[in-house]
Amino acid sequence: MESITHENRKFAPLAAFSENAHINSMESYTTLYQKSIDDPEAFWAEAATDLHWFKKWDTVLDASEAPFYKWFDGSRTNLSYNCLDRHINEGRGEKIAIHWEGEPGDVRTISYAELHEEVCRLANAMKSKGVQKGDRIGIYLPMIPELAVSVLACARIGAVHSVIFAGFSADAIRDRVLDSETRMVITADGGYRRGKILELKKIVDEGIEDCPCIKDVIVVQRGDAHPIDCPMKDERDCWYHEEVAAMSEVCPAEEMEAEDLLFLLYTSGTTGKPKGVMHTTAGYQVFSYLTSKYVFDLKPDDVYWCTADVGWITGHTYIIYGIMQNCATQVMYEGAPNHPDEGRFWEIIEKYKVSIFYTAPTAIRAFMKWGDKWLVDRDLSSLRLLGTVGEPINPEAWIWYHKMIGGERCPIVDTWWQTETGGHMLTPMPGATPTKPGCATLPFFGIDTAILTDDGEEVDVGILAIKQPWPGMLRGIYGDPQRFKEAYWCKWGGQYYFPGDGARRDEDGYIWITGRVDDVVNVSGHRIGTAELESVFVEHPDVAESAVVGVPHEIKGQGLIAFVTVIDGRDYDDHLRKELVTMIDKSIGKFARPERILFSSDLPKTRSGKIMRRILRDIAEGKELGNTTTLADPSVVEALQAQYIAMSQ
Ligand code: WTA
Repeated sequence: MESITHENRKFAPLAAFSENAHINSMESYTTLYQKSIDDPEAFWAEAATDLHWFKKWDTVLDASEAPFYKWFDGSRTNLSYNCLDRHINEGRGEKIAIHWEGEPGDVRTISYAELHEEVCRLANAMKSKGVQKGDRIGIYLPMIPELAVSVLACARIGAVHSVIFAGFSADAIRDRVLDSETRMVITADGGYRRGKILELKKIVDEGIEDCPCIKDVIVVQRGDAHPIDCPMKDERDCWYHEEVAAMSEVCPAEEMEAEDLLFLLYTSGTTGKPKGVMHTTAGYQVFSYLTSKYVFDLKPDDVYWCTADVGWITGHTYIIYGIMQNCATQVMYEGAPNHPDEGRFWEIIEKYKVSIFYTAPTAIRAFMKWGDKWLVDRDLSSLRLLGTVGEPINPEAWIWYHKMIGGERCPIVDTWWQTETGGHMLTPMPGATPTKPGCATLPFFGIDTAILTDDGEEVDVGILAIKQPWPGMLRGIYGDPQRFKEAYWCKWGGQYYFPGDGARRDEDGYIWITGRVDDVVNVSGHRIGTAELESVFVEHPDVAESAVVGVPHEIKGQGLIAFVTVIDGRDYDDHLRKELVTMIDKSIGKFARPERILFSSDLPKTRSGKIMRRILRDIAEGKELGNTTTLADPSVVEALQAQYIAMSQ
C-alpha cells in the first residue's frame, strides 16, 4: 500500500513537543531501549515501582516452563486498585475519569472517586449473586460508562471478564459463553448506533438460551429516557440500577496473584473456531501502564480519546487499564462517527478539548472520503498527539491525518500490536522518533524483534518474530494449551513468538508491517479468520465447498470475497446469496459480511487437491492471472474470472 513518493519523507517531532515529552530524543530512546534489552528484568522491575503492590514479587521473569512464562511471580496486586484506589489515596479522586457522550447527545461526567464508588457497588452486587474469584463473566454492552464499570468490577473481585463486542451475533455469544463456561452476563436493554437502537438483551437471550452455565444476567437500562423493549426472565435477570442502588460502596480489592487470569478476549485465528486469548494480572498491568505513559506521552492535563470499542483489545488496554492506571481524563463516545452527520468526531474534539486522539486507519480513510468540509470552522488546536492502530495505514491517509487533523504539528504514533501482545510492540516515541507515513517504526522498550525466513534466517524482508518474552504477552488459549504452543511458538523451534505478520526493515532500521502471512483478514481493523466464514457457508445444504480471501479495499483496508461451490444439480442465484449473507450475520455478525459471493462448479486446485488461494486472490483483485498450468482444471479459473467481470460491471 505504501507509495514511493512518501516512502522517504521523514517527519521529526517539533521541538515544542519534544521539550516536554517523557522520551524527548532519539538518544534517550536508544539508551533506554538498550538497557531494556540488556537487562529486561531490571527495566520492568523499575517500571513496576510506580504501581501499588500488596506484596512485591520474588522474581521478575520466570522462564522455567517456557512458553508459559511468568512475570512478577510471588507478587500480589489488583488492576482495579491501580486504576482507581491508588489515585484516590494520592488525592486525585476528583479528577475526571470519563467525559461520556451518548450518540443521541446525552452526556455524563464521572470522576475517579465516582467511578470507584460505582465499581465497588457493582462488585458487591456480583458477589451477592455468588460470583467468586476465577468465575467468567460475559460483558455485552454498548460503549457506555457501565462497560468500564463492569470490567473494573470484575478485576476488583478477581472475576475473569470476557467482553464480547456488541456487533457479534447470538451464535457468537453462545460459542464464547460455552467455551469459557461463563457464569454471568452483563448487558443492556439496548444501545444506539447510527440513530437506531440495537436491542442487545434480546440478542443475549437468544445466545444463552441453551447455556446452563449462565446463572444471572444483569441488565443496564440504557433506554431510561425512551423505554427499549426488554423482556426479563424471572430468577435469572435483574436490573443493574436496582442492584447497585442496594449495595455498599465499600468493596476491598481482592489481592490477586501475579498469574491469576484477568480476562479472556476471543479473537480470530486460522481455524474456524475463535480462540480465547488469556491475559493475566501483574505483567499485563505493568505493560499496559508503561506503554500508555510513553506512547501517548500522558500528562496530567491531557484529554485523551480512543475511538475503539472496549469489545476489542484496543479498548481493554487503551481505554481502560493502561489509560486509567495513568489517571488520565478521557472521552468515551457511544456511537457512530457519522451521526447525526460526518462532523461528529470533530465536534467532540472541539467540545472536550481533546489533546490525544487514537483511531483506526479505516476511520481516517472514511473521514478523507467524507471530505474536508466537515473540518471547516472546527477548532482542533487542542490536539497535540495523534495515533493509529489496527491495520497498516496507507501513506496518503497518514499525510491527510497529519495535515488536516494534526495541523502539521502533532506527531503520529502508528502502533503495531495484537490482541495477543496486550499492548504496543512497534511504535514511534512521539517526542523522539522521526516518523515515516505508513511505518510503525521501532520496537517499544523490552521488545526484541527480528525479521526471519520460514527457516529462521535473518533477512530484511520476511516474517516478524519476537525473540524475548514481554510482560503483556498472552499466557495461553483458554482450555487449549496445545493450540497456544502450535499457533505462536512452533514456527521457529519453540524459541520465538510468531505474530503472523510479514515485515520489512528499511535502511534506517525501521520496521514496516506488510500484512498478515496467514489466513487472517483485517476488515475495518476487525480481525476475521477466512476459515470462520468458510465453516459457516458449508453448513448450508446446497454448498459443497468454499474459500474466502481478503482483497485490498479502499476504505476498509481489506474486504472479503467468498468463492462458493454448489452441490451438483442445485441452483445458485441471488436467493442463495442472500441466505448465505444471513448465515454470516447470524453466526458471526454483520461486520463480517463478504463484499461479494461468487459461485462456481469448482475451485482452482492443484493436482493434489489443494485450493490455490493465490489464484482466487488474483481473480478477486481483477488481476491478470499468472501461471495456471499447475491447476487440475484450468477452465475453472476462466469461468470464475468471467463471473467476476460480469459482477463488476
Ligand atoms: C494488524 C489490534 C499494521 C496486524 C491491536 C496484527 C497492524 C493484527 C497494526 C492484530 C499497525 C495492528 N500496522 N498492521 N499499526 N496494528 N495491525 O488482534 O496484522 O485485533 O497482527 O489487535 O492487526 O489485530 P488485533
